[in-house]
Amino acid sequence: MFSFTLLLQGIWILAADAGHHWTYEGQHGQDHWEASYPECGSNAQSPINIWTDSVVFDPDLAVLKLVGYEQPVATPLELHNNGHTVQLSLPPTLYLEGLPRKYVAAQLHLHWGQKGSTGGSEHQINSEATAAELHIVHYDCDSYNSLSEAAQSPQGLAVLGILIEVGDTENPVYEHILSHLHEIRHKDQKTLVPSFNMRGLLPLQLWQFFRYNGSLTTPPCYQSVLWTVFSQRAQISRAQLEKLQETLFSTEEGLSSELLAQNYRVPQQLNQRTVFASFIQEESLYTTGEMLSLGVGILVGCLCLLLAIYLIARKIRKKRMGNRKSVVFTSARTTET
Ligand SMILES: *[C@@H]1O[C@H](CO)[C@@H](O)[C@H](O)[C@H]1NC(C)=O
Repeated sequence: MFSFTLLLQGIWILAADAGHHWTYEGQHGQDHWEASYPECGSNAQSPINIWTDSVVFDPDLAVLKLVGYEQPVATPLELHNNGHTVQLSLPPTLYLEGLPRKYVAAQLHLHWGQKGSTGGSEHQINSEATAAELHIVHYDCDSYNSLSEAAQSPQGLAVLGILIEVGDTENPVYEHILSHLHEIRHKDQKTLVPSFNMRGLLPLQLWQFFRYNGSLTTPPCYQSVLWTVFSQRAQISRAQLEKLQETLFSTEEGLSSELLAQNYRVPQQLNQRTVFASFIQEESLYTTGEMLSLGVGILVGCLCLLLAIYLIARKIRKKRMGNRKSVVFTSARTTET
């Protein structure tokens, strides 16, 4: 209970830290964050575009174990429109194993585009953005007393990034969040959501991921995040995406309403950093075209070899038959004389 109080305090301090008004576009937009929040202009920022040709395979990267994710907790969770995103608070009974230290869950939130646009995710893979992105924020509770303290310390946070694309069917797990959006349409509104199986928010394949050192993707942009971005995507339906794009306002009730959309930061420079991968990308070794020409090449090569063997064998046989004939002929001549 004590740590949970600290955690809530931490979230409050984090929120209070954002003293200056910021938005994604316009006068206080992302190009101007640096003026009020210097770290946003630093050299290890997030998100990034991940070039799969340039990642470094690290066989020592362990598959993450999501502890407590599948057991719904007894108390309902708080869902909050903070004017920048929709955020679900998570209890510290959820934590990650497989990182250098133990990271407990604090909150999750989403980033998305506007209706009709294809983009919306923050991370990109080979310059391709998806419709939305889920961030599950964890912090190192052994080294730091609170989320806000961890958020200002190197590798104090571990965030899971899940790229979300549009699929054919409704995703029932995401619906546990999306079905409550209409209760918190305005900034600062909150509601309670029954706990559910959080594992379902992530893709099935957890063993293919990218790992790098980066930052919070919103002011104050602290460079304290050990990022894990999964290669496989989660899917929600088009109707679910549109609900996300069209339900929330970034403004308080009573004021002129402004839709909360396009809340993603553009990719930042990688600079001196390395992005590690837990797997070898087959596609990066050979493209489909290269594979095809390689296959055809091998086939033609084999045929040529067979033909050569056949021709050589024929020649040898002919020669042998010729030799035998001459032997017979000679011996015949010898008996004659
Ligand atoms: C992140 O930075 C720390 C400290 O410089 C370093 O030890 C670690 O290897 C880096 N991790 C990754 C994934 O780059």
